[in-house]
Amino acid sequence: MMKLKIRRQEGKKSWYEVFEVEERPGMTVLEALFHVQEKLDGSLTFRYSCRGAVCGSCGMLINRVPRLACRTQVSELRKEPTNEGNPEVLIANRKTEENNDEILIEPLPDLEVIRDLVVDMEVFYSLLDNVRPWLEVKEDVPEKENIIDHEMQLMIEQYTNCILCAICHGSCPVAARDKKYYGPAALAKAWRFDLDPREDEKHREQRRDIVDSVSGVWGCDTVYRCVAVCPKKVAPTQGINELRKRIELTEK
Ligand code: FES
Repeated sequence: MMKLKIRRQEGKKSWYEVFEVEERPGMTVLEALFHVQEKLDGSLTFRYSCRGAVCGSCGMLINRVPRLACRTQVSELRKEPTNEGNPEVLIANRKTEENNDEILIEPLPDLEVIRDLVVDMEVFYSLLDNVRPWLEVKEDVPEKENIIDHEMQLMIEQYTNCILCAICHGSCPVAARDKKYYGPAALAKAWRFDLDPREDEKHREQRRDIVDSVSGVWGCDTVYRCVAVCPKKVAPTQGINELRKRIELTEK
């Protein structure tokens, strides 16, 4: 048996509740939550859709590290400290304790809790909108295909893998203290479109002007927590650093 210690919330009232769940081989945290909801407490509320690390809706704090519940195996968590774990230590070195039988589950931080493990993503999406995360193609587009070369495609691909799960946002110390900071997901998106050779120059410049600010790339502490936690290996900090270089080059 293992224990899930879950932060519950209903309205302004919040509390922690411990549930005992029988661990099965290959069980994910999401499956453990289903077990609680189906067998122990039908009122437990959490968000999910694809169950396969595609939709980005099951982000939560698991042992104080933001992760996807559908991608996190319960067996991996047995080697981690639980309650008092420092997130940075957990990210850097997850194996610090043997056979821990309690998993701590909380909602993503820095977003308002709607109920239990469900947070309001509205703030996250509006921060994303700031960087104009879409492509405005140049006027002289070819009639049939607007092809980009393979090397560039691979560079862009890493950033298109973002599933907007807000896990990077939940790990970011700047997002925690500065509510105007666009955050790692938005800035990674900005880099994805900045890279794209099909982008109209005027639109690219407008976006660079927007991210050339303390709410943008200059606000980042460059501590790489977002890179450590991203379940899709997007590497927002690298994108932020590249945007900084491009901005500095264009200002010379
Ligand atoms: S349920 Fe879709 S990413 Fe976890």
